Amino acid sequence: MLSLGVAAREGRLAIAFSVNGSAPSVDVPETTSLLETLRNHLGLMGTRYGCGLEQCGACTVLVDGEPVFACTREAGTVTGRSVTTIEGLGTPDRPHPLQQAFLDEQAGQCGYCLSGIILSAKALLDQNPKPSRAQIVEALDRHLCRCGTHQRIIRAVERAAHTSRRGLA
Ligand code: FES
Ligand code: FES
Repeated sequence: MLSLGVAAREGRLAIAFSVNGSAPSVDVPETTSLLETLRNHLGLMGTRYGCGLEQCGACTVLVDGEPVFACTREAGTVTGRSVTTIEGLGTPDRPHPLQQAFLDEQAGQCGYCLSGIILSAKALLDQNPKPSRAQIVEALDRHLCRCGTHQRIIRAVERAAHTSRRGLA
């Protein structure tokens, strides 16, 4: 049985959902992943493809505020739900506190992993504004950074938590 808001047409799905506050309607083959839908059909290229196997976290987006692997998530499962990608956070002129903290700590080298990491960090800070270092490590455990900037990434999340709590951002 099809979910409300999903219409099948010859092996395709018309999916209505929210992305970064907008309400696009996309028509994709029914096995299309959320990652492919975001990148190839909506032009949201900030979400990365790494392993395709739920092993690296590069593809992480938020669905109703929870981090999910977009590489294996079928697009039809987000019908009627709210998706947040890295494009939904700040802008170059007004970066989100996490983005500013990652800049301040120079927490990226190639940057490939950072969209997913920042979104997982956002989910953490939304639920726990004052996480311990151990809680940050645990929240980011499913992410790989091949450049090895782990210590700077953790410092950036700590900085963002601090600035957000103090209303400095
Ligand atoms: S691309 Fe999805 S976890 Fe690696
Ligand atoms: S900054 Fe290069 S993979 Fe993380």
